[in-house]
Amino acid sequence: MQDCHKSQKIAICMVGLPARGKTYISRKLHRYLNWLGYNCKVFNIGNYRREICGTECDKTFFDSKNEQATKARNECAQMALNDLISYLNGDGEIAIFDGTNTTKQRRNMVQCSLSQQCQNVQTLWIESICDDAEVIQNNIRLTKLNNPDYVSMNPEDATKDFLGRIRMYEEVYQKIELDENLSFIKLINIGEDIQIHKVKGYLLSKIISYLMNLHIYPRPIYLTRHGGSTFNQENRVGGDCDLSQQGIQYSEQLGKFLLDEFPTQEQRNQIHCLTSTMKRATHTADIVCNILKISYLQLKTLDEINVGICDGLTYTQIAIQFPEDFAQRKVNKLTYRYPRGESYLDLISRIEPIIYEIERSREPVLVIGHQAILRCLYAYFHRNEISEVPQLEIPIHAIIKLTPAAYYCEEIRIKIDPETGERKQIEEDLQIERVNLLTKKKSYILL
Ligand code: SIN
Repeated sequence: MQDCHKSQKIAICMVGLPARGKTYISRKLHRYLNWLGYNCKVFNIGNYRREICGTECDKTFFDSKNEQATKARNECAQMALNDLISYLNGDGEIAIFDGTNTTKQRRNMVQCSLSQQCQNVQTLWIESICDDAEVIQNNIRLTKLNNPDYVSMNPEDATKDFLGRIRMYEEVYQKIELDENLSFIKLINIGEDIQIHKVKGYLLSKIISYLMNLHIYPRPIYLTRHGGSTFNQENRVGGDCDLSQQGIQYSEQLGKFLLDEFPTQEQRNQIHCLTSTMKRATHTADIVCNILKISYLQLKTLDEINVGICDGLTYTQIAIQFPEDFAQRKVNKLTYRYPRGESYLDLISRIEPIIYEIERSREPVLVIGHQAILRCLYAYFHRNEISEVPQLEIPIHAIIKLTPAAYYCEEIRIKIDPETGERKQIEEDLQIERVNLLTKKKSYILL
């Protein structure tokens, strides 16, 4: 990503008792920053501990009076930190140190190592504080019981041991205090209250606003392209044409589909519907929202990629009239910018506020958009590599339902026949993905 702030490296260090959402926050940030084009990596101390000490560590391993175990745990933290420092001294731009870091002594050691061994590094500490017993219990149930530490234990014993582990940490926990002279943000009870201290700079301010919009309420996000347009029929790009007859039919079927998804008017009133300012999208939204009896928000930010001088042309015409551009676009569709238009990278920057809007919403979100725009949005939730964005499949006359959960995003794709209204779940796609967000493998969750 071209950005004048890039030479500055950033270390983000988590603080907090176990089951306070540190890993969730780390992964969300990792996703967001990668999606923006930064080289970013998470260093999870627990994973180093599992790698080095195995997964058989019960709560006594986390007792600060257990000298041997404390030494081993400190060594694991040190190894993770060393790797993080090497990463930042190489081509890494942002590194996230995911661990409890519950004592002043540990934080001091981390802060000193970073400033002594890394050039031009800015450190942000994120402390997650939560005293809501229900949230903690839920977190244990949803994330810790699938953790390799507990995968072979029954849920009751695992919960008991994990609560014991939390108590061990509580005995030594020191919240971040002003005299530590750190740049920090404290997130209290999942964003109910937020304290920010000495946070400066463009990217850190961005990170703070991103964190302020996060929540853990499950809600579906529906992504669909507008109904087919007259330009779609003619294979033309750009323009501001209206829907084709088929596009009108799809819009009606889409409305009916959503009526089934949200059977009561009370539920439908909750839907947060966003669309662009382009005719084909607003016409689709008009039809859908008229059926649902709800309103929608038109956002210029959601307008389709600007194809500049190629506006209104077919790909064959582009190849003939602008052969050099046609060839350049083929080489790198991500960075290629249409003359007087936009690239996919430009789009990602443009739609960043939409990510905030969707993350912030605790209600269902429906985006009636355009192919390139939806590729960018989808990649954020689906954790695609940024280079994959221009190739992602966002079929016409289909709806993608995403339900983000703590460590995975559930996905269902339904193709809707505009004429008959027949709905068909697209089988070849991964309908339910439980992706390990660190390794991107479909497997149990590593914490
Ligand atoms: C830590 O205390 O940061 C590491 C947690 C773990 O070993 O699981």
